[in-house]
Amino acid sequence: MEDGSIVVEGLTKVFNGFVAVDHISFSIKDGELFGLLGPNGAGKSTTMRMLTTLLRPTEGDAYVGGHSVKKEPDKVRLLIGLVSDKLIVYDRLTARENLRFFGNLYGLGGKRLDERIDELLEEVNLSRFADKPVGTFSTGMKQRLNLVRALLHNPKVLFLDEPTLGLDPQTVRFIKDLIIQLHESDITIVLTTHEMALAEELSERLAIIDHGKILAIGEPKKLEEENGVKNLEELFLKLTGRQLRDSLGKQSASARVVR
Ligand SMILES: Nc1ncnc2c1ncn2[C@@H]1O[C@H](COP(=O)(O)OP(=O)(O)OP(=O)(O)O)[C@@H](O)[C@H]1O
Ligand SMILES: [Mg+2]
Repeated sequence: MEDGSIVVEGLTKVFNGFVAVDHISFSIKDGELFGLLGPNGAGKSTTMRMLTTLLRPTEGDAYVGGHSVKKEPDKVRLLIGLVSDKLIVYDRLTARENLRFFGNLYGLGGKRLDERIDELLEEVNLSRFADKPVGTFSTGMKQRLNLVRALLHNPKVLFLDEPTLGLDPQTVRFIKDLIIQLHESDITIVLTTHEMALAEELSERLAIIDHGKILAIGEPKKLEEENGVKNLEELFLKLTGRQLRDSLGKQSASARVVR
């Protein structure tokens, strides 16, 4: 079995002089379910994008299954799946066409790929919609398809960046159960979410980051005890404060279009 451990060493990202992730170091064990929490703009997605080779670190490095994200990004990519806060599926293609396309990118094809697609669509209750254009899907259906896309190549490590954002309680419950099931099958899972109850329930260990730095790391219950608080929400607010996080750090995609 491949190793799904993650080791992060002094990982740093600077955008035009702005330090989004500031020399963070931590590790995640093979098969662990790890939560990455923090206020808006804390640096969670930036960290995930470096760990998934989408963004090159300014300084430091990280190792996924022993492979450097800087020096061996191709090896890392084969080991990981990513569900980001943005949907990565094509509306004009059917669910099956989307999955064949992404399967091909991983070098999968033929009967084995089709069988894998059928099996996974069944698992997320989308079999009856396999040949419908994804543009007609609800947000919850698209996100379930997105999960299938990320799982096609049997990744050893799954990165979930706000996988339940904007979804109804039924889909949230479904995705939560799927995460538990994947965890039981020994996949390493890194989860970011603003849902404190979800993070508290799922994470074996978690890190709270703010302004690109780790404020606390460990088992949720232990961290709460150490800080004399009764739940994760209180711990989060105690460590990160109650100040609202407004900033103009980055231009949104829509702002760029209308400019
Ligand atoms: N490509 C970029 N160029 C410039 N600044 C960026 C870029 N990407 C992120 N940032 C900035 O880096 C900081 C961290 O952003 P990041 O997306 O990692 O936060 P986050 O913890 O995922 O927040 P959220 O909870 O809102 O998703 C923010 O201040 C953001 O504006
Ligand atoms: Mg984010």
